[in-house]
Amino acid sequence: MFPVGAEATIEQLTADPHPLLARLRAAEPVSWLPALNGWLVTRHDLALQVMKDAATFTVDDPRFSTAQVVGPSMLSLDADEHARHRTPFSRQFRPREIEDRFGDFVRAECARLVDGFVATGRAELRRALAGPLAVAVVADALGLDATDAKRVLAWYDAIVSTVAEISAGHEPDPGGAQAFGELRAHIEGSTAKPSLLADAARALALPEVVSNAAVLMFGGIETTEGMIANLVLHLLTNPSQLDVVRADPARIPDAVEESLRMEPAAAVVDRYATRDVELAGASIARGDLVTVSLTAANRDPAVFDNPDEFDLGRPNLRHQLAFARGPHFCLGIDLARLETRVAVEAVLDRLPGLALTDPATPAGLVFRKPDGVHVRWDAP
Ligand code: HEM
Repeated sequence: MFPVGAEATIEQLTADPHPLLARLRAAEPVSWLPALNGWLVTRHDLALQVMKDAATFTVDDPRFSTAQVVGPSMLSLDADEHARHRTPFSRQFRPREIEDRFGDFVRAECARLVDGFVATGRAELRRALAGPLAVAVVADALGLDATDAKRVLAWYDAIVSTVAEISAGHEPDPGGAQAFGELRAHIEGSTAKPSLLADAARALALPEVVSNAAVLMFGGIETTEGMIANLVLHLLTNPSQLDVVRADPARIPDAVEESLRMEPAAAVVDRYATRDVELAGASIARGDLVTVSLTAANRDPAVFDNPDEFDLGRPNLRHQLAFARGPHFCLGIDLARLETRVAVEAVLDRLPGLALTDPATPAGLVFRKPDGVHVRWDAP
């Protein structure tokens, strides 16, 4: 019934999924993949349809592994409960508020990180810049100072590995629960200080603030690290497009969107069918897992001409779906864009003659990023 999906493997989806996703999109745009034990949606229009119809395709399901570790949050609720959890944070994530609240911090942190390695002439930019910046921003958003970034990373790692264990059907080790307990203790002690969380604490019960704080952390670290690393990689492997942004740095935001289109740092979003439903010839049963491939939707030739090309001149590059759509569209869009823009500005400005030293490509089943972005430049 779904021959292309039947043959798909996790390895293919993890390494270079684009040829497989192109075949699925053309022949089986909603396909059953035994490897995922669920449906995979690969067309742009169908991806939008699923993400916008939360009554039929919900996140609110006991199998949702993140919620098993951090409790119910905006990420795992729908309808009125979703709005109740999300609204107390939304105002603070508007572009103006993000620039006012985080602009100077992000610029200073990028400058500090680049200062740390600029004299060496070589670095691996994912671990030297993208990762530490993403952690520092989340630490700051949670009301921790920069010296506590290590704690945030330790909590993050423990929670992520527990979520992965649960997703793989294993019994989780207690590390995730312990990390979540430490995060809770920190937040309980800090909501009196002005921060993003203090405002939310006026509208939500404390355990709800803690769960949503964990989701901000969960959503804001690995994705942003990947988003920055992928953009640097796309620019360094597409010299003509690098020339465009070097000649006119005002084009950096276009490069950010086009890089997100080529490789969304979060490749998929998961939903569960609330009823039996037909979608593009597929008979989805109530309770089935429906995974939307943002990666596949972003290279749909019905929307994007020559979809495998990194091209800042696309008229519609903002139609990319890396931040999802519908009620769960990413809350951190403008913060992630700010971090990525400033990081790339710093790299281009302060590392003259920048070039890759080792080939690299993004990889990963859910979070896609290169293993490393090894570069050299003309040291001062
Ligand atoms: C500072 C950085 C970030 C923060 C604080 C953040 C926060 C969040 C939060 C709180 C949600 C849940 C919204 C809801 O359920 O109503 C969310 C959703 C999402 N975020 Fe982000 N995010 C960040 C960066 C990113 C990046 C860099 C990407 C990918 C390039 C990304 C992709 C997504 C996606 C795809 C969803 C939708 C999940 C779903 O529909 O199931 N986020 N984000």
